[in-house]
Amino acid sequence: MAIHIKTAEELQRMRVAGRLAGEVLDFIAAHVKPGISTGELDRLCHEYMVDAQGTIPAPLNYAPPGYKPFPKSICTSVNHQVCHGIPGERVLKTGDIVNIDITVIKDGYHGDSSRMFYAGEPSIQARRLCEVTFECMWIGVKAVKPGGHLGDIGEAIQRHAEANGYSVVREFCGHGIGRRFHEEPQVLHYGRAGTGVRLEPGMIFTVEPMVNAGRAAIRELADGWTIVTKDHSLSAQWEHTVAVTESGYEVLTVSAGARPEPGTRAASPDLAGAVHPA
Ligand code: MF3
Ligand code: CO
Ligand code: CO
Repeated sequence: MAIHIKTAEELQRMRVAGRLAGEVLDFIAAHVKPGISTGELDRLCHEYMVDAQGTIPAPLNYAPPGYKPFPKSICTSVNHQVCHGIPGERVLKTGDIVNIDITVIKDGYHGDSSRMFYAGEPSIQARRLCEVTFECMWIGVKAVKPGGHLGDIGEAIQRHAEANGYSVVREFCGHGIGRRFHEEPQVLHYGRAGTGVRLEPGMIFTVEPMVNAGRAAIRELADGWTIVTKDHSLSAQWEHTVAVTESGYEVLTVSAGARPEPGTRAASPDLAGAVHPA
């Protein structure tokens, strides 16, 4: 199946879906504290998506080939959980780091974004991992431009992660996104610049590096979804949905509460969603 190039009209719908995904993360931020369960975070997000936004939580009952249907509306991945954590009884405790991954469907189009949150004060090591992973995501995003290659993104991310003594998860990657949750192409978070698919305006995909404090190896839990680091080292992930434009890239999952890219001043709602040239 080919990579779908979005029309201007589709891009506009993807902007709406993307902002809404970001707004769910803005909404849930204040609730992420010691004492709350991941199941409660899921319940709050589900209610916000369905009742306040009129969006559909894409994860709920999502069942790619070989998987059983995902039973919840968001993914919550705590500490050494890499991704696809299933919300449930687990109660967050002080120092936990948690990735919340939100995918909404609005008017048939998907917006997909995730951020790291701290329950109370994290350890210095945990904070550093989350910060470097945020930088990795942005370094990947900034490598997006027409005429560039997917490998430019992967190499940039891998370089920054490894320069900081971390490793990049290989088994999961970013993905094209649009009418479907996961479309072509696969966006690897490692690789070599100048290799892979050539980027064209109208392509839309996610950049969502998973970075481990220890080794890259992962394993899947018996629930059929949750991925953890094999060595039980901490793992972090950030995700934006990005469009390739005529001049560079546009981040679609920006919302008022989104953390600005590294090196910029505090978030201003006026600047949120700005188009970034190459
Ligand atoms: N949101 C994840 C991603 O970034 C996918 C989660 S699939 C689910 O691609 F079923 F676990 F929700
Ligand atoms: Co994604
Ligand atoms: Co996601």
